[in-house]
Amino acid sequence: MNIHWFPGHMAKARREISEKIKVIDIVIELVDARAPYSSKNPMINEITKNKPRLIVLTKKDMADDRYTKQWVQYYEQCGYQAMSVNLKNFNEYQKVIEKCRHVLKEKMEKEKARGLKPRAIRAMVLGIPNVGKSTFINKLANRKATVTGNKPGVTKAQQIIRIAKDFELFDTPGVLWPKLDDEHVAKNIALLGSIKQSILPLDDLFIAAMRYLTENYPQLLKERYQLEIDLDDDNWIVETFDHIAKVRKIKPLRGETDYDRVMELFFSEINDGSIGQITWESPTCVNV
Ligand code: G4P
Repeated sequence: MNIHWFPGHMAKARREISEKIKVIDIVIELVDARAPYSSKNPMINEITKNKPRLIVLTKKDMADDRYTKQWVQYYEQCGYQAMSVNLKNFNEYQKVIEKCRHVLKEKMEKEKARGLKPRAIRAMVLGIPNVGKSTFINKLANRKATVTGNKPGVTKAQQIIRIAKDFELFDTPGVLWPKLDDEHVAKNIALLGSIKQSILPLDDLFIAAMRYLTENYPQLLKERYQLEIDLDDDNWIVETFDHIAKVRKIKPLRGETDYDRVMELFFSEINDGSIGQITWESPTCVNV
């Protein structure tokens, strides 16, 4: 995954979304439950204007349940509708549609009372790369391959697909950008695997992740790598590398621990969830 966002891309994405916004009833904003602040677009309020919005935290199966609940509550307290889902589980899709119906119930009833012809709710999926937009749309549309892409420059004929008698969806999602100039956000987005990790110095990312895991999920490090880190020990970083290399039998490189291989292994296990259910930020540490 690689994100290259330039001012031109942002303006284009914005323009395309502004056009579509006019004909939709609700925005389904997908964010990653493992970092529900960092995986949001910083200008979403401005972009979606006053359209009703449902914030859907995807990948809840990979996130820490405790934090997921807190984040859903947090967004609800901010005045949004919010829910968490595992998009690998098809039953969860119906819950999203149900929630959209619920959010728009009053509006649809008002239209009916005014004598307007009953019509389907029209929705659009928005989010930064890798949050599950194509998975969501393709599964509902019952298609296999994604045609959406993550490139803001990719255009194709827009289609509106009917998912249920009363529910329609744009077949192409709105692709937005994360706030990568914020160091906290860039770090978390890299840990989610949504951008090339190499945009940040890998060893800094490794150290930050290890520190966070030691403070918040020491048991996961113990289970996965039989690793216990003492952050007060001046040598903890080198010892951590050496320990993982030894436990995972990573061959030394010219007589030294192969630091790159250790990091590669660690990040791939972080990204694919094999270390465990981890959330990288809590609502108490960010100012949304
Ligand atoms: P995007 O359009 O927003 O860029 O995201 P996309 O749907 O391509 O999803 C990115 C990856 O996240 C995919 O994995 C997808 O399967 C996975 N994913 C989406 N939602 C969930 C979820 O709720 N839980 C879990 N565990 N994974 C989710 P991939 O490895 O790129 O593809 P695939 O091999 O799974 O198809």
